[in-house]
Amino acid sequence: MQAKELKQKYLEFFKSKGHAIIPSASLIPVNDPTVLFNTAGMQPLAPYLTGEKHPQGKRLADVQKCLRTVDFENIGDDTHHTFFEMLGNWSLGDYFKEDAIKWSFEFLTSKEWLGLPLSKLAFTVYKGEGDVPKDSESASIWESLGVSKDRIAFLGSDNFWIAGEAGPCGPSSEMFYWTGDSDAPVKFDEEDERWVEIWNDVFMAYNKSEDGSITKLKQQNVDTGMGLERTAAVLLGKKSAYETDLFQPIIKKIVSLSGKDYEDNKKAMRIIADHLRAATFVLAEGLEPSNTDRGYILRRLIRRAIRFGKQLGITTEFTSLIAEVVVSEYCEGYPELKENKNKIISELQKEEKKFEITLEKGLREFEKMATKGNLSGEDAFLLFQSYGFPLEMTEELADERKVKVDAEQFFAAYERHQKLSRTATEGKFKGGLADLSDESVKLHTATHLLNEALRKVVSSDIKQRGSNITPERLRFDFTFDRKLTDEEKKAVEDEVNKVINADLKVVRKEMLQEEAAKLGAQAEFGKKYPDTVSVYLVGDYSIELCGGPHVNSTKEIGHFKIVKEQSSSAGVRRIKAVIRTEGHG
Ligand code: ALA
Repeated sequence: MQAKELKQKYLEFFKSKGHAIIPSASLIPVNDPTVLFNTAGMQPLAPYLTGEKHPQGKRLADVQKCLRTVDFENIGDDTHHTFFEMLGNWSLGDYFKEDAIKWSFEFLTSKEWLGLPLSKLAFTVYKGEGDVPKDSESASIWESLGVSKDRIAFLGSDNFWIAGEAGPCGPSSEMFYWTGDSDAPVKFDEEDERWVEIWNDVFMAYNKSEDGSITKLKQQNVDTGMGLERTAAVLLGKKSAYETDLFQPIIKKIVSLSGKDYEDNKKAMRIIADHLRAATFVLAEGLEPSNTDRGYILRRLIRRAIRFGKQLGITTEFTSLIAEVVVSEYCEGYPELKENKNKIISELQKEEKKFEITLEKGLREFEKMATKGNLSGEDAFLLFQSYGFPLEMTEELADERKVKVDAEQFFAAYERHQKLSRTATEGKFKGGLADLSDESVKLHTATHLLNEALRKVVSSDIKQRGSNITPERLRFDFTFDRKLTDEEKKAVEDEVNKVINADLKVVRKEMLQEEAAKLGAQAEFGKKYPDTVSVYLVGDYSIELCGGPHVNSTKEIGHFKIVKEQSSSAGVRRIKAVIRTEGHG
């Protein structure tokens, strides 16, 4: 089955169960300043989940366009995408667990619909915590449909779903499909990645307030989400959605433009396909590339695609040619693509022209720098300011050349420059500020708090092994030899938020290295420091050798949330966290 057919079948199935099929809402959330783009199907429906009447009734289904940028650097592997489509069905105070689960089961297993063998399916339900009890009811419904107990797992926070920090939420039941070559094991194992999550039924009967308290909603809702890309891939028996009809026409175009094989150039071709598909959809919303917020995400998507196009040896202007394929492939469900086609094409051509001029020179400059060894923050800043290279692009280039970039020094150079320019132009400076948006500075201070919180809450032996910040998330690597438990993650989050709310002052001091060491200052492993070092103190909570910049006091940071905890390498774990909340799936 092709992805297009999966979409059709899904909508047809829920129509047959009395659902109104509604069009995808805009990618840009209305009345929600906490997210830049919709990251789940329920986001545009939030008012209706909390009681407002929807003009089309109590049963809805749709395919919603979504965009997530937390995993920007993972694009190119089998499973990550920035833009994606989410299939969903909703009950707004109408049916609840029984019907939702029965219909999910019917759609997945019935020969008339997807016809997946039960032997390859597994299910998870919520084990309960605090005011929200264990979801034995959902487990019994799955069992009544013939699912064995071994294939029903009771899990913690993964099975309690909320889009951000506050709002409608509830226990969820996730459906997994076995993708291994061998027969599926009798018992479901959440650690085994061959079990791939394909669908999530959330029983949204609760509301979480800003203060963290959970109360019952006026109505019991159902919110479900099925990732189209992932599900299409597993249904087709492919490792990746890039190998399905969702991407193949785009990839074919890249192959013909570059004259290169897909098999040998997977990563670059996938990045181009993903980024330009996303950029086309963002441009269709009427946005333009810029240096802040959504416009900056758009700019980074386009520029990274251009950079990889160059790496593939594409010498002509190509981004608009790829966009044409995206428009013709996707315009059926998304008429805005056709309506805005001229604008999409012209914006891409404009951005490509603009970047083309500096990209080549910038790459030469980069080569010169890299030949000498690691790049200083000043080097990276020059590439940013004079050639329009986002920091992450320089970091990626450096990675390919096996050299390092001093990101911290980059931020310091940035801040110095910003101050100078501000003074020079009396605040009119509107340069490429995005890499050091307020968000990055907040994330930087949050990184210091996380570093300390891990030692306080989890283990005093933990040491920092790496850190990386983009405008939308922090990434922190640290020594530890196992997965953190739900309780540990929660305790770390609570600890960081407690310190944020205590509004501690952040102070910079210069001192001799030995003095800093005596005070117990954290330093980066393996890094050489001068005799006199710059040290940042967050109240008396944290002390680290660091070049800054940071917020003035911790309350400026906002709310801290861990969105991922995973293995990075042997004995090293990796946390991704945000302060501007993004949904998770
Ligand atoms: N809102 C739920 C999700 O995105 C269905 O997984």
